[in-house]
Amino acid sequence: MTSLTRAMSFNTAPDRYAAFRPFYPPALFELVEELSGISLPGARIADVGAGTGISTAQLVERGADVVAVEPGEGMAAWLRKSLPDVPLVRGDADALPLADGCRDLVTYAQAWHWAEPCRAVPEAMRVLRPGGSLVVWWNLTAHDVPWIGAQAERITRHTGVSSPPLNQVGDRGALRRAGLDGLRLSHRHTRWSRTVPLDVHLGNLATHSGFLVMPEQATRDFLDAERSRLRALFPDERVEEVYVVDLLVAPRD
Ligand SMILES: C[S@@+](CC[C@H](N)C(=O)[O-])C[C@H]1O[C@@H](n2cnc3c(N)ncnc32)[C@H](O)[C@@H]1O
Repeated sequence: MTSLTRAMSFNTAPDRYAAFRPFYPPALFELVEELSGISLPGARIADVGAGTGISTAQLVERGADVVAVEPGEGMAAWLRKSLPDVPLVRGDADALPLADGCRDLVTYAQAWHWAEPCRAVPEAMRVLRPGGSLVVWWNLTAHDVPWIGAQAERITRHTGVSSPPLNQVGDRGALRRAGLDGLRLSHRHTRWSRTVPLDVHLGNLATHSGFLVMPEQATRDFLDAERSRLRALFPDERVEEVYVVDLLVAPRD
């Protein structure tokens, strides 16, 4: 299974992605402003790997002037429908279809791990104006919550894909793995949760690339077993998903 197959697997399920994936907490956007020194209202942003538009919509809501960049046809079609006023360009991290120095921020929400940092970092820096910032973040699984950590282990055993560990802020290894260790960087975490119906939680799990590339029956069997386990833990079928947003901000000198 190539990484490209997984990277493009989201195009098979943009409707479920848009319905079930979590948004990002308000504290994240405050941290983006604090660490970049750029206020979001009026900021010119390229949101790369924009997907169905979850991150794009939240940046637009805060008054940013956003261009969405998305390589996948299925995801792009969904974004075009749900955010018709937002300009969208097809392209990827390796070759951003944008002019030099035209953006205050280049953002990657839950998408940087699909990029090849050796090409994506210079591309982002080219598109940024001096003083602008490359901003990347992920909603990481809070492995320290016992039921979530146990579920993450079952998912890894079933799909062969592990969710990234919760790295300490400032951990150089984490920055190296993200391909960003040569840059001047700020790194923060913010923890948050959402409580959703059990079916939304299971729907969310199924939108992860490890499941999207598996035979449907194998995913259904896994989710049926999870449903039984989680019903025992959450008899009211309301599940608290806990996330730690991992945020990295790298200014262009
Ligand atoms: C997990 S989704 C994140 C979508 C959105 N930013 C969000 O917050 O929900 C990852 C997105 O990155 C896109 N992607 C995959 N490879 C990419 C690449 N090389 N450059 C840019 N985007 C890529 C995928 O098509 C997908 O839409």
